Formats: sequence, structure tokens, C-alpha cells
Amino acid sequence: MSDSAVTAVQGAEPLSRATIARVDGSDQLGDVLALPEHLRDALWRVESAIMQDWDTPAGLVVAGMGGSAIGGALARAALGDHASRPIFVTRAYGLPPWTTPETMVLCASYSGDTEETLACYESAGALGAKRTVVTTGGRLAEMARADGVPVIPLPGGFQPRAAVAYMTVAALEVAALCGAGPRLTSEIDVTASHTEQLVAEWGPEAPEDSLAKEVARGVLGSVPVIAGAGLTTPIAYRWKTQINENAKQPCFSNELPELDHNELAGWKGAQDVGRFSAVFLDDSDAHPRVKARMELTERMIAGNAAASFRLETRGQTSIERVISLVLLGDLVSIYLAALRGVDPGPVPVLEELKDALAQQ
Ligand code: F6R
Repeated sequence: MSDSAVTAVQGAEPLSRATIARVDGSDQLGDVLALPEHLRDALWRVESAIMQDWDTPAGLVVAGMGGSAIGGALARAALGDHASRPIFVTRAYGLPPWTTPETMVLCASYSGDTEETLACYESAGALGAKRTVVTTGGRLAEMARADGVPVIPLPGGFQPRAAVAYMTVAALEVAALCGAGPRLTSEIDVTASHTEQLVAEWGPEAPEDSLAKEVARGVLGSVPVIAGAGLTTPIAYRWKTQINENAKQPCFSNELPELDHNELAGWKGAQDVGRFSAVFLDDSDAHPRVKARMELTERMIAGNAAASFRLETRGQTSIERVISLVLLGDLVSIYLAALRGVDPGPVPVLEELKDALAQQ
């Protein structure tokens, strides 16, 4: 149970830096607001890892879990139709069966000690695939250094999920180096400036009716169900995981058009079984039929939802648009934590599980 009576931001209070700081002992808010700097620093860090151009005709596999895997999925979404080779994200103990010496495997683990990612690193070695590592250290960095595998070094001190910009940029840059996509270096730099404007628009200094605060208050007390489509599908998953880990509550995600073929029917009975809210993540550049579906779907479920929102990406390039809704979701999850009176930082239950598994 949270000590919400003591520290939660109450209805009439503003969601300000000071009120959020009451619950946010490790300044997760500060890490979210620093997203623009993380984008720029990440570019510099990839460059400093001095990697050769490693042409891998079979494409790129990003192996990681949780907050370390999401960067690969966001990078793939940002590359969209510009990806010239397969880009695949694996969140498991193994690599796809088609991995060959012509595949680049990027092993992404913030801690460097995640057992699934370590297993993928070893499988990639056994298969003779090209490897790159992005991490702060741990066993993964040790093994990579011993094997002469390039390491993209990350700064320490974050929750792994707060390093999302680093993981996304690393995946984008490695995709370019291995020939799976174009180099987006200058777009990433422009994205950092664009994101700074959004930080001002949605951050804690923004008015109480600004978008991130409005959405957090709107979904409070419900189970949010986040829907994406195409470019926004992994962003919907990011929202889900950030609400799970920061606000410590259930949240689910799904994608269109698939959800129109099943989940839509489930919404009919939503009020019989609980309190659910809906958030649709639209892309300003989405296929017109997908846009039409999203509008219609929202209209059809709104009456059965505690609250419902349709939010659109902001920006010109695909990377700007991806990062815009990642920022919005990260802010919503921190504001929601503050409204619920829970510390968004530590996730002891995740550690507990890892420790219990290590005993077996
Ligand atoms: C914690 C978090 C988790 C971790 C995951 C894998 O903030 O987001 O989802 O990312 O447990 O650990 P790492 O990232 O260290 O490989």
C-alpha cells in the first residue's frame, strides 16, 4: 500500500517540482526532463566507441529486456520505411533462428547483468554473428572487453528505463553502421531541440491544464489501456511499462488495427468488471485508414471508459514524433505516481524476482 494520505499530490495541489519531490526520492522527474541532453550525449558516446562500419546483410537484432529493449523497438519504428534490412528486437533467452555471421547483434543491458541478454550475447558469439554491446558495465562489459567486442558506454546512476534516449540512439546508430538504415545523426540533434520545447510545454512548470497533467489526472483511479498503431505501437508499450514501473499500477497496451478485431468487443463489458481508461496514440503522419479507425474506435469505446484521450505525435521527422510521445508518456507516468503517492524510482519487486531466480 502507498502512504498516499501523507505524500500524494492532492486534487487541489499543483503538480509542481516541489509537490512531486515529496514522493520522487531519486528525481525520476529530473531524468525525464533531461531527455534532450540524453539524446545529445548518446550521439557523442556512440561516436566515442569508435566502431567500424560493419556491413551485415542479414540485418540487425537488438537483444535486451524491459527498459533496455525498448530503445531497439523505438529505433525500428523511427526508421520505418527507411529500414533497408530486417531489424528485430528479441526479449528472450535466445536469438531468432535465422541469425547468422551476417547478422549484427546489439546486446543492450543497462546493468550489464541481465541473464536473458547475457545468454543472447553468448549465443551470438557461438553463431559467429557480429556483436556490439551498450551498457554501463557488469558481466556484459567484462565479456565484451575480453572478446574485443565494441562497447558503447552509458552513464551510471539511472534507473535502466530512464536511459531510453541512450538506448534508442545506440540502436539507430548501430543500424546505420551495419547498413540497416540511414544515418540519423543530424535528425537526432534537431530532435533534442524540439524535445526541449515539449519539455517546457508539458513539464512541471506548465499550467495545470497542460496535456501531460490533464492525462495523468484523467486516468487516475483507473486501469489505462494504451493503443498505438504503426510508429506509435512501441510507444504505447513504453507508456504501459512506464505506468507499471513508475506509477506502480496495472496498465496494458495493444495496437490497431488488430484491436478492432477483438478488444473492441471487450470494451462493451468494461464497466461490469472494473474501471478502465483509454489512451489512443495517433501519429500525425499515419495512414488515413488507420487515422479513421482510431477516431471511430475511440468514439465507440468512450462511453464505457472512465476517461478517453486521443493524442497525436508532434514534430516533422519520425524520430521527433517518436520521442514526442515517449516524453509525454514518461511525464504522465511520473505525474500519476505523484497523484498516487508512490515513489516512481525503485522497483524492488523486480530485484526480488531476479534475486530469487539467481538462487535456483
Ligand atoms: C528498470 C527497468 C527494467 C530493466 C530490465 C532489464 O528500470 O526498466 O525493465 O530494464 O529489468 O535490466 P537491464 O536494463 O539492466 O538489462
